[in-house]
Amino acid sequence: MTVRPGPAPTPVSDRPVPSRQGSPAASPASAAATAAPPLEPQLRRIGGTPLLDLSQLLPRGGALPGGGRVRVLGKAEMTNPGGSVKDRAALSMVLDAEARGTLTPGDPRRILDATSGNTGIAYAMIAAARGYGVTLCLPDNASLERKRILRAYGAELVITDPLEGTDGAILEARRLAEEAPRRYAYLDQYSNPANPAAHETGTGPEILRQAAAGAGAPAGSVGLTHFITGLGTSGTFMGVGRFLRREAPGVRLISVQPDGPLHGLEGMKHMESALVPPIYDPGLADEERWAGTEAAHAQARRLAREMGLLVGPSAAANAAAALVLGRELLAAGEPATVVTVLCDGAEKYLSESFWDEAETDAGTGGGEGA
Ligand SMILES: Cc1ncc(COP(=O)(O)O)c(C=O)c1O
Repeated sequence: MTVRPGPAPTPVSDRPVPSRQGSPAASPASAAATAAPPLEPQLRRIGGTPLLDLSQLLPRGGALPGGGRVRVLGKAEMTNPGGSVKDRAALSMVLDAEARGTLTPGDPRRILDATSGNTGIAYAMIAAARGYGVTLCLPDNASLERKRILRAYGAELVITDPLEGTDGAILEARRLAEEAPRRYAYLDQYSNPANPAAHETGTGPEILRQAAAGAGAPAGSVGLTHFITGLGTSGTFMGVGRFLRREAPGVRLISVQPDGPLHGLEGMKHMESALVPPIYDPGLADEERWAGTEAAHAQARRLAREMGLLVGPSAAANAAAALVLGRELLAAGEPATVVTVLCDGAEKYLSESFWDEAETDAGTGGGEGA
């Protein structure tokens, strides 16, 4: 597949400041974000993450018998200072709120949102660095490690019913925002256009530039052909997808969802059984795929043991889906470059028992499922 690289090199942003052009958050207010107080040193480290080659996990390392190759690459978002892809979205939403005057430095209003963890960690880090209070609604089953990180940053936690999952936390955040609008600036990551805008202006351009077939890529490589990632708020998929649709329309966009409602893949949403995020447009994907929890866990073990790469369950689900796709492309003899997102590292999930399970073939090598 030929990929049009785009009319001009898009500047790679190390800061996911909401875009002025073509972004859903584009508005006079978001344009004013550029006039906001400069970013603190810790926040300047957000974005600009490496793209890691996972192709050694493909048969023959992805080499096609007749020349050419299939590459599977993972955007290593765990290298953000808060440890996940959500640093980008949270910073974008805070800067956008500042630009709109919903938040002002020294403001008594607290940042409020519902978060299963990573966005909360990102808000808590950003709030501490920029001098805001932060209140986060999260289900009680969020891991102990996450709660401890949030408390370490000084966040106030409102714990919700674990049986209601993230949706229960969303309803509680809405209730608090309605009850005390002067106490809270409710950023609402599920509806906030500044969430996907972070990926449209930051992650997407970085991926297109880093996945190019030029210098540094192995012989026989082609530029980006497929982008595949899981849906949570859908901010990553929507933002990167919109950028690629515009700048590299030949790239195939594939979204991934857990294959059932009780999946345990932290950060991912099974849309059919969940509150669907208003920022999600199912029409953007060329294709939908499904992630199995056991296959994701097996992939996490394999990435750790064969590549020295410790990632969380959603990152492993993404890697599994990307590697299944890579094997399909290899079998079809189609040179390709598949990019997925490694959303976070494993540190917050080390108490989960799947790390101790015996190795099976499920989902890691057979080319079945995702
Ligand atoms: C670990 C993890 N994976 C995946 C996602 C999904 O990313 P997005 O919300 O951009 O769809 C999230 C979002 O919170 C997450 O925390």
